[in-house]
Amino acid sequence: MLVVFLGPPGAGKGTQAARLSTKYGLPKVSTGDMLREAVAAGNELGERVGAIMEAGELVPDDTMAAVVEQRLARPDCEGGAILDGYPRTVRQAELLEGIATRTSLGGVDLVLLLSVPEQELVRRLSGRRVCAECGANYHVEFNPPAREGVCDRCGGELRQRGDDTEDAIRERLRVYREQTGALAGHYRAGDTLHEVDGRGDIDDVFRRVDAVVSGAVRA
Ligand code: AP5
Repeated sequence: MLVVFLGPPGAGKGTQAARLSTKYGLPKVSTGDMLREAVAAGNELGERVGAIMEAGELVPDDTMAAVVEQRLARPDCEGGAILDGYPRTVRQAELLEGIATRTSLGGVDLVLLLSVPEQELVRRLSGRRVCAECGANYHVEFNPPAREGVCDRCGGELRQRGDDTEDAIRERLRVYREQTGALAGHYRAGDTLHEVDGRGDIDDVFRRVDAVVSGAVRA
């Protein structure tokens, strides 16, 4: 099963994709995480995308398609995957169809669009902290670690993401409205889109997400 999480920055795509991954045993494929790993490794891809990400802009579609195809071709994705942050443009959605065919995944089965008001997104993003070691996500107010600044899972240091600054958040929201907003219409036309209310606490949102996914699994 190939599941896509859609939604603006801070909607909870990564948080919910991680929970779904644990419950259904499908790998979470986060393009943001893969790009950040490339930047941290200082490799050729990381050098190309670092400044783009810091500014809150989108990495070119062809670059993203190559990254995603390589990942989905790995054996752990044979039974499907949960895509977090991909696709983000109608062109990326079209390229994904080709990737899904070539990797024998078939096509996108389910698209979950998390909707959250913009004011709430800014609160979530500005309070987010991420473990520098294992990538676990926290929020200073909504999902705090047991010890301030320290990851519950691995003891790593919690840091603020480079694109969670006020200017970059504003730009990411603008880019989402302009370039990713049209994707919902693309998937609605194909009948795979499910809108999920992303407000409320993380467990409540997960119950709504899981109701859609378990319904699709039973069908
Ligand atoms: P990416 O890492 O994908 O960032 P994003 O889309 O901006 O999404 P976020 O990770 O900020 O938010 P999220 O929805 O995952 O929310 P989260 O669960 O973390 O991409 C970063 C950059 O990489 C892009 O700007 C672009 O440059 C590049 N890129 C990536 N993919 C690309 C692509 N396909 N094409 C081109 N470029 C690409 O939650 C946020 C916070 O809220 C956390 O602190 C969390 O704990 C908290 N939280 C979550 N749910 C709740 C809740 N229900 N209540 C309260 N708090 C909550």
